[in-house]
Amino acid sequence: MTTHTATATAGTNIALCKYWGKRDAALNLPAVGSLSMTLKEMTSVTRVEFLDEPGLDVVTLPDGDPDAFFTERVRTFLDLVRARAGFERRARVTTRNNVPTASGLASSASGFAALALAATRAAGLDLSPAELSALARRGSGSAARSIFGGFVEMHRGEKPDGSDAVGETIAEPGSWDVRLVVAVTSEGRKPFGSTAAMEHTARTSPYYREWLESAPADLAEARLAVGARDIGKLGTVAERSCLRMHASAMAADPPILYWNAATMGVIRVVQELRASGIGAWFTVDAGPHVKVLCRATDARAIEILVKGVPGVFKTVVASPGPGARVVEESS
Ligand code: PMV
Repeated sequence: MTTHTATATAGTNIALCKYWGKRDAALNLPAVGSLSMTLKEMTSVTRVEFLDEPGLDVVTLPDGDPDAFFTERVRTFLDLVRARAGFERRARVTTRNNVPTASGLASSASGFAALALAATRAAGLDLSPAELSALARRGSGSAARSIFGGFVEMHRGEKPDGSDAVGETIAEPGSWDVRLVVAVTSEGRKPFGSTAAMEHTARTSPYYREWLESAPADLAEARLAVGARDIGKLGTVAERSCLRMHASAMAADPPILYWNAATMGVIRVVQELRASGIGAWFTVDAGPHVKVLCRATDARAIEILVKGVPGVFKTVVASPGPGARVVEESS
Protein backbone atom coordinates (compact mmCIF):
# COMPACT_ATOMS: atom_id res chain seq x y z
CA MET A 1 0.00 0.00 0.00
CA THR A 2 1.34 3.48 -0.84
CA THR A 3 1.17 6.15 1.79
CA HIS A 4 1.85 9.84 1.63
CA THR A 5 3.28 11.40 4.75
CA ALA A 6 4.24 14.85 5.95
CA THR A 7 5.20 16.26 9.33
CA ALA A 8 4.91 19.96 10.10
CA THR A 9 5.49 22.15 13.11
CA ALA A 10 3.99 25.49 14.17
CA GLY A 11 4.31 27.77 17.16
CA THR A 12 1.29 28.87 19.07
CA ASN A 13 0.48 32.57 19.16
CA ILE A 14 -0.78 35.01 21.73
CA ALA A 15 -3.13 37.78 20.64
CA LEU A 16 -2.15 41.26 21.77
CA CYS A 17 -5.29 42.55 20.08
CA LYS A 18 -8.03 39.99 20.57
CA TYR A 19 -10.37 38.17 18.25
CA TRP A 20 -13.73 37.44 19.90
CA GLY A 21 -16.85 36.72 17.86
CA LYS A 22 -17.54 35.41 14.35
CA ARG A 23 -19.08 37.06 11.31
CA ASP A 24 -19.74 33.64 9.77
CA ALA A 25 -19.82 30.49 11.87
CA ALA A 26 -19.66 27.96 9.00
CA LEU A 27 -16.51 29.46 7.47
CA ASN A 28 -15.20 30.55 10.87
CA LEU A 29 -14.80 34.16 9.79
CA PRO A 30 -13.81 36.56 12.57
CA ALA A 31 -16.03 39.51 13.46
CA VAL A 32 -12.90 41.62 14.10
CA GLY A 33 -9.27 41.61 13.00
CA SER A 34 -6.57 40.73 15.53
CA LEU A 35 -2.83 40.98 16.11
CA SER A 36 -0.58 38.38 17.70
CA MET A 37 2.94 37.20 18.36
CA THR A 38 3.90 33.69 17.23
CA LEU A 39 5.90 31.88 19.92
CA LYS A 40 9.14 29.98 19.37
CA GLU A 41 9.04 27.98 22.60
CA MET A 42 5.47 26.58 22.52
CA THR A 43 4.81 24.41 19.51
CA SER A 44 2.85 21.54 18.00
CA VAL A 45 4.38 18.88 15.77
CA THR A 46 1.85 17.05 13.62
CA ARG A 47 2.34 14.08 11.31
CA VAL A 48 -0.28 13.16 8.72
CA GLU A 49 -0.24 9.96 6.72
CA PHE A 50 -2.84 9.38 4.00
CA LEU A 51 -3.44 5.68 3.30
CA ASP A 52 -4.61 4.47 -0.09
CA GLU A 53 -7.98 3.38 1.28
CA PRO A 54 -11.20 5.08 2.43
CA GLY A 55 -12.36 4.81 6.04
CA LEU A 56 -12.21 6.49 9.41
CA ASP A 57 -9.26 8.69 10.34
CA VAL A 58 -7.27 7.72 13.42
CA VAL A 59 -5.95 10.49 15.65
CA THR A 60 -3.44 9.89 18.44
CA LEU A 61 -1.72 12.03 21.03
CA PRO A 62 1.49 10.79 22.72
CA ASP A 63 -0.15 10.66 26.16
CA GLY A 64 -3.21 8.63 25.20
CA ASP A 65 -6.27 8.83 22.98
CA PRO A 66 -7.76 12.28 22.41
CA ASP A 67 -11.38 12.91 23.39
CA ALA A 68 -14.12 12.34 20.83
CA PHE A 69 -14.70 16.08 20.34
CA PHE A 70 -11.06 16.69 19.39
CA THR A 71 -10.98 13.69 17.03
CA GLU A 72 -14.17 14.90 15.35
CA ARG A 73 -12.71 18.40 14.86
CA VAL A 74 -9.65 16.87 13.19
CA ARG A 75 -11.77 14.61 10.95
CA THR A 76 -13.98 17.51 9.88
CA PHE A 77 -10.85 19.49 9.07
CA LEU A 78 -9.35 16.60 7.08
CA ASP A 79 -12.58 16.44 5.04
CA LEU A 80 -11.75 19.95 3.78
CA VAL A 81 -8.30 18.78 2.68
CA ARG A 82 -9.73 15.64 1.03
CA ALA A 83 -12.33 17.70 -0.84
CA ARG A 84 -9.57 19.97 -2.10
CA ALA A 85 -7.35 17.05 -3.11
CA GLY A 86 -10.26 15.16 -4.69
CA PHE A 87 -9.76 11.84 -2.90
CA GLU A 88 -11.31 9.87 -0.07
CA ARG A 89 -8.24 8.40 1.63
CA ARG A 90 -8.29 7.99 5.37
CA ALA A 91 -5.55 9.49 7.50
CA ARG A 92 -3.46 8.61 10.49
CA VAL A 93 -2.65 11.72 12.47
CA THR A 94 -0.28 12.03 15.40
CA THR A 95 0.15 15.31 17.13
CA ARG A 96 2.41 16.37 19.95
CA ASN A 97 2.10 19.65 21.84
CA ASN A 98 4.50 21.25 24.19
CA VAL A 99 1.56 23.43 25.22
CA PRO A 100 -1.04 22.15 27.72
CA THR A 101 -4.01 21.00 25.56
CA ALA A 102 -7.29 22.99 25.77
CA SER A 103 -6.23 25.03 28.77
CA GLY A 104 -6.48 28.43 27.14
CA LEU A 105 -2.85 28.30 26.08
CA ALA A 106 -3.84 28.19 22.44
CA SER A 107 -2.80 24.65 21.56
CA SER A 108 -5.53 24.73 18.91
CA ALA A 109 -3.67 27.58 17.16
CA SER A 110 -0.40 25.70 16.76
CA GLY A 111 -2.21 22.37 16.31
CA PHE A 112 -4.43 23.40 13.40
CA ALA A 113 -1.66 25.42 11.75
CA ALA A 114 0.65 22.37 11.83
CA LEU A 115 -2.23 20.11 10.73
CA ALA A 116 -3.14 22.38 7.78
CA LEU A 117 0.43 22.31 6.50
CA ALA A 118 1.11 18.61 7.15
CA ALA A 119 -2.23 17.43 5.73
CA THR A 120 -2.04 19.52 2.55
CA ARG A 121 1.53 18.39 1.87
CA ALA A 122 0.68 14.75 2.55
CA ALA A 123 -2.25 15.18 0.13
CA GLY A 124 0.15 16.44 -2.55
CA LEU A 125 -1.19 20.01 -2.42
CA ASP A 126 1.06 23.06 -2.42
CA LEU A 127 -0.86 25.99 -0.94
CA SER A 128 0.39 29.57 -0.62
CA PRO A 129 0.77 30.92 2.95
CA ALA A 130 -2.45 32.94 2.55
CA GLU A 131 -4.34 29.84 1.34
CA LEU A 132 -2.93 27.82 4.25
CA SER A 133 -3.97 30.55 6.65
CA ALA A 134 -7.55 30.53 5.31
CA LEU A 135 -7.59 26.74 5.63
CA ALA A 136 -6.13 26.71 9.17
CA ARG A 137 -8.81 29.27 10.14
CA ARG A 138 -11.47 26.62 9.47
CA GLY A 139 -9.94 24.54 12.30
CA SER A 140 -9.52 27.43 14.73
CA GLY A 141 -9.67 31.18 14.19
CA SER A 142 -6.36 31.83 15.91
CA ALA A 143 -4.63 29.05 13.88
CA ALA A 144 -4.76 31.31 10.82
CA ARG A 145 -2.17 33.51 12.56
CA SER A 146 0.21 30.65 13.43
CA ILE A 147 0.93 29.99 9.75
CA PHE A 148 3.01 33.16 9.96
CA GLY A 149 5.98 34.10 12.14
CA GLY A 150 6.79 37.12 14.28
CA PHE A 151 4.05 39.72 14.73
CA VAL A 152 0.99 38.84 12.71
CA GLU A 153 -2.09 40.77 11.77
CA MET A 154 -5.18 38.71 11.10
CA HIS A 155 -7.48 40.50 8.70
CA ARG A 156 -11.19 40.40 9.37
CA GLY A 157 -11.73 40.32 5.62
CA GLU A 158 -14.81 41.43 3.72
CA LYS A 159 -15.36 38.63 1.19
CA PRO A 160 -18.16 36.15 1.88
CA ASP A 161 -15.89 33.20 0.95
CA GLY A 162 -13.30 34.20 3.58
CA SER A 163 -10.36 34.24 1.17
CA ASP A 164 -9.26 37.61 2.57
CA ALA A 165 -9.73 36.60 6.24
CA VAL A 166 -6.10 35.54 6.59
CA GLY A 167 -2.98 36.40 8.57
CA GLU A 168 0.04 38.42 7.48
CA THR A 169 3.43 39.01 9.10
CA ILE A 170 3.87 42.69 9.95
CA ALA A 171 7.21 42.32 11.80
CA GLU A 172 9.63 39.43 11.30
CA PRO A 173 10.57 37.34 14.37
CA GLY A 174 14.17 38.60 14.51
CA SER A 175 13.21 42.24 14.14
CA TRP A 176 12.03 42.99 17.68
CA ASP A 177 13.52 41.60 20.88
CA VAL A 178 10.50 41.36 23.15
CA ARG A 179 9.22 38.49 25.29
CA LEU A 180 5.99 37.10 26.64
CA VAL A 181 6.36 35.62 30.12
CA VAL A 182 3.63 32.98 30.24
CA ALA A 183 2.26 32.23 33.72
CA VAL A 184 0.34 28.94 33.84
CA THR A 185 -2.29 29.18 36.58
CA SER A 186 -4.23 25.93 36.16
CA GLU A 187 -3.68 22.53 34.66
CA GLY A 188 -7.26 21.65 33.90
CA ARG A 189 -9.22 22.12 30.71
CA LYS A 190 -10.88 25.46 30.25
CA PRO A 191 -14.52 25.44 31.35
CA PHE A 192 -15.86 27.19 28.22
CA GLY A 193 -14.54 26.41 24.74
CA SER A 194 -13.87 29.60 22.79
CA THR A 195 -16.36 28.99 19.95
CA ALA A 196 -19.29 28.37 22.31
CA ALA A 197 -18.20 31.25 24.54
CA MET A 198 -18.02 33.69 21.63
CA GLU A 199 -21.42 32.61 20.37
CA HIS A 200 -22.89 32.97 23.87
CA THR A 201 -21.32 36.43 24.28
CA ALA A 202 -22.68 37.58 20.91
CA ARG A 203 -26.15 36.34 21.82
CA THR A 204 -26.48 37.51 25.41
CA SER A 205 -23.93 40.19 26.30
CA PRO A 206 -25.11 43.82 26.24
CA TYR A 207 -21.45 44.77 25.72
CA TYR A 208 -20.83 42.70 22.60
CA ARG A 209 -21.82 45.46 20.19
CA GLU A 210 -19.50 47.90 21.98
CA TRP A 211 -16.71 45.34 21.78
CA LEU A 212 -17.17 45.09 18.00
CA GLU A 213 -17.24 48.86 17.68
CA SER A 214 -14.10 49.48 19.72
CA ALA A 215 -11.92 46.69 18.30
CA PRO A 216 -10.87 48.27 14.94
CA ALA A 217 -9.37 51.38 16.59
CA ASP A 218 -7.40 49.19 19.02
CA LEU A 219 -6.14 47.09 16.12
CA ALA A 220 -5.04 50.16 14.16
CA GLU A 221 -3.17 51.44 17.21
CA ALA A 222 -1.51 48.06 17.83
CA ARG A 223 -0.41 47.87 14.17
CA LEU A 224 1.20 51.32 14.46
CA ALA A 225 2.87 50.37 17.76
CA VAL A 226 4.43 47.27 16.16
CA GLY A 227 5.57 49.32 13.17
CA ALA A 228 7.23 51.82 15.50
CA ARG A 229 8.56 48.99 17.76
CA ASP A 230 6.96 50.91 20.64
CA ILE A 231 6.44 48.37 23.42
CA GLY A 232 4.73 50.85 25.74
CA LYS A 233 2.08 51.69 23.14
CA LEU A 234 1.60 48.03 22.22
CA GLY A 235 1.34 47.00 25.89
CA THR A 236 -1.24 49.68 26.63
CA VAL A 237 -3.47 48.65 23.73
CA ALA A 238 -2.96 44.95 24.55
CA GLU A 239 -4.30 45.41 28.09
CA ARG A 240 -7.21 47.47 26.82
CA SER A 241 -8.14 44.94 24.14
CA CYS A 242 -7.88 42.06 26.63
CA LEU A 243 -10.03 43.77 29.26
CA ARG A 244 -12.65 44.80 26.71
CA MET A 245 -12.86 41.26 25.36
CA HIS A 246 -13.21 39.79 28.86
CA ALA A 247 -15.69 42.52 29.87
CA SER A 248 -17.95 41.51 26.98
CA ALA A 249 -17.76 37.85 28.03
CA MET A 250 -18.24 38.61 31.75
CA ALA A 251 -21.38 40.58 30.90
CA ALA A 252 -22.94 37.60 29.10
CA ASP A 253 -25.91 35.85 30.70
CA PRO A 254 -24.97 33.54 32.38
CA PRO A 255 -21.52 35.15 32.67
CA ILE A 256 -18.29 33.74 31.30
CA LEU A 257 -15.44 34.32 33.72
CA TYR A 258 -12.12 32.69 32.84
CA TRP A 259 -10.00 34.22 35.60
CA ASN A 260 -8.94 32.68 38.91
CA ALA A 261 -7.20 34.17 41.96
CA ALA A 262 -3.75 33.64 40.42
CA THR A 263 -4.82 35.47 37.23
CA MET A 264 -5.59 38.51 39.36
CA GLY A 265 -2.41 38.01 41.41
CA VAL A 266 -0.21 38.17 38.29
CA ILE A 267 -2.10 41.20 36.98
CA ARG A 268 -1.39 42.99 40.29
CA VAL A 269 2.33 42.16 40.01
CA VAL A 270 2.36 43.60 36.47
CA GLN A 271 0.69 46.79 37.69
CA GLU A 272 3.21 47.11 40.55
CA LEU A 273 6.13 46.53 38.18
CA ARG A 274 4.89 49.30 35.95
CA ALA A 275 4.39 51.65 38.89
CA SER A 276 8.05 51.03 39.76
CA GLY A 277 9.13 51.94 36.22
CA ILE A 278 9.58 48.46 34.67
CA GLY A 279 7.86 47.86 31.33
CA ALA A 280 5.38 44.99 31.76
CA TRP A 281 1.88 44.59 30.31
CA PHE A 282 -0.57 41.68 30.71
CA THR A 283 -2.93 39.82 28.44
CA VAL A 284 -5.31 36.92 29.17
CA ASP A 285 -7.03 34.60 26.68
CA ALA A 286 -9.92 32.13 27.01
CA GLY A 287 -8.46 30.61 30.17
CA PRO A 288 -6.93 31.77 33.46
CA HIS A 289 -3.28 32.05 32.34
CA VAL A 290 -1.55 35.42 32.09
CA LYS A 291 1.03 36.43 29.50
CA VAL A 292 3.27 39.37 30.34
CA LEU A 293 4.70 41.43 27.50
CA CYS A 294 8.14 42.88 28.30
CA ARG A 295 11.57 43.69 26.93
CA ALA A 296 13.93 40.72 26.55
CA THR A 297 16.29 42.23 29.13
CA ASP A 298 13.54 42.30 31.82
CA ALA A 299 12.05 38.85 31.13
CA ARG A 300 14.02 36.73 33.65
CA ALA A 301 13.47 39.14 36.55
CA ILE A 302 9.75 39.34 35.73
CA GLU A 303 9.55 35.56 35.49
CA ILE A 304 10.96 35.21 39.03
CA LEU A 305 8.40 37.66 40.44
CA VAL A 306 5.51 36.01 38.59
CA LYS A 307 6.61 32.55 39.80
CA GLY A 308 6.20 33.80 43.37
CA VAL A 309 2.47 34.51 42.92
CA PRO A 310 0.38 31.88 44.77
CA GLY A 311 -1.32 29.60 42.25
CA VAL A 312 1.28 30.01 39.50
CA PHE A 313 2.91 26.63 39.04
CA LYS A 314 4.72 27.02 35.75
CA THR A 315 6.25 29.82 33.72
CA VAL A 316 7.68 29.97 30.21
CA VAL A 317 9.61 32.86 28.71
CA ALA A 318 8.53 32.95 25.07
CA SER A 319 10.09 34.88 22.20
CA PRO A 320 8.91 35.72 18.68
CA GLY A 321 9.18 32.60 16.53
CA PRO A 322 8.86 31.44 12.92
CA GLY A 323 5.72 30.46 11.07
CA ALA A 324 4.56 26.91 10.30
CA ARG A 325 7.05 24.76 8.39
CA VAL A 326 7.45 21.24 7.06
CA VAL A 327 10.00 19.11 8.91
CA GLU A 328 9.65 15.83 6.98
CA GLU A 329 7.94 14.63 3.82
CA SER A 330 7.77 11.33 1.95
CA SER A 331 5.54 9.44 -0.46
O1 PMV B 1 -9.03 30.44 17.83
P1 PMV B 1 -9.99 30.22 18.93
O2 PMV B 1 -11.30 29.78 18.47
O3 PMV B 1 -9.41 29.31 19.98
O4 PMV B 1 -10.26 31.64 19.67
C1 PMV B 1 -9.24 32.40 20.24
C2 PMV B 1 -9.80 33.41 21.16
C3 PMV B 1 -8.78 34.17 22.01
O5 PMV B 1 -7.65 33.39 22.27
C4 PMV B 1 -9.44 34.51 23.34
C5 PMV B 1 -8.39 35.50 21.36
C6 PMV B 1 -7.40 35.40 20.24
O6 PMV B 1 -7.44 36.31 19.40
O7 PMV B 1 -6.56 34.49 20.21
